[in-house]
Amino acid sequence: MSDLSRRNFLKLSAGIACGPCAANVLSQTGIPTEAEAHSPFATTLPYPRKKLANVNELAVGKELSMTYPDRFSPISLLKLGRRAVNGAGADHDIVAFSRYCTHMGGTLIYRPESGSYRCPLHYATFDAAKGGLIVIGQATDNLPQLDLEVDGKGDIYAVGIKGLIYGRQANILT
Ligand code: FES
Repeated sequence: MSDLSRRNFLKLSAGIACGPCAANVLSQTGIPTEAEAHSPFATTLPYPRKKLANVNELAVGKELSMTYPDRFSPISLLKLGRRAVNGAGADHDIVAFSRYCTHMGGTLIYRPESGSYRCPLHYATFDAAKGGLIVIGQATDNLPQLDLEVDGKGDIYAVGIKGLIYGRQANILT
C-alpha cells in the first residue's frame, strides 16, 4: 500500500469511528441526531388539552362521540357507573377510548350491557373498565385510552393518550 493510499485509509477509518461519537455528542446536547430526526417514532409534539364535556352531560352507560387529538381520530367518552382502570372523576368511572379497533381499524360499537367495545369486522372485544384490555378476537393491542382530567367545575379534559391510534406512526400528526 502506498503512503498516499495508507493516509486515505486512515482518514476514512477515523471518520467511520467518530460517526457514532458525533451522534452521541448531539444526543447529549438535546439536538436530535440524523437517525432520531427521521424516526417515525421521534415525535415530541405535545398533546392538546381539549375540553370534551361536563360531567352533567354524562349518564351511566351512555356514550358521547367526539374526536381527539384531532378531527380525524374519533373517540368514545362514557361514564361506566363503576370504578375503572384510569377512570376520572369523583367515582373514577369516566373513561374515553379511541373508536378505531387495533386490529385493522374497524369502527367500534359500545355495548353497555357488557361494558365493552365490539368490533363489527372481526369481533374483537375490549373491556372499558380494564383500560381497554383486549378480551377476545384477533387484535393484539389494547384499545388506546385517553388521559382525562376533571376540573372543579366538572369539565372533562383530554390531555393525552396511552397507546397508538390505529393507522398512525405517532398520535400527533405533523
Ligand atoms: S378490524 Fe376489528 S377485529 Fe378486525
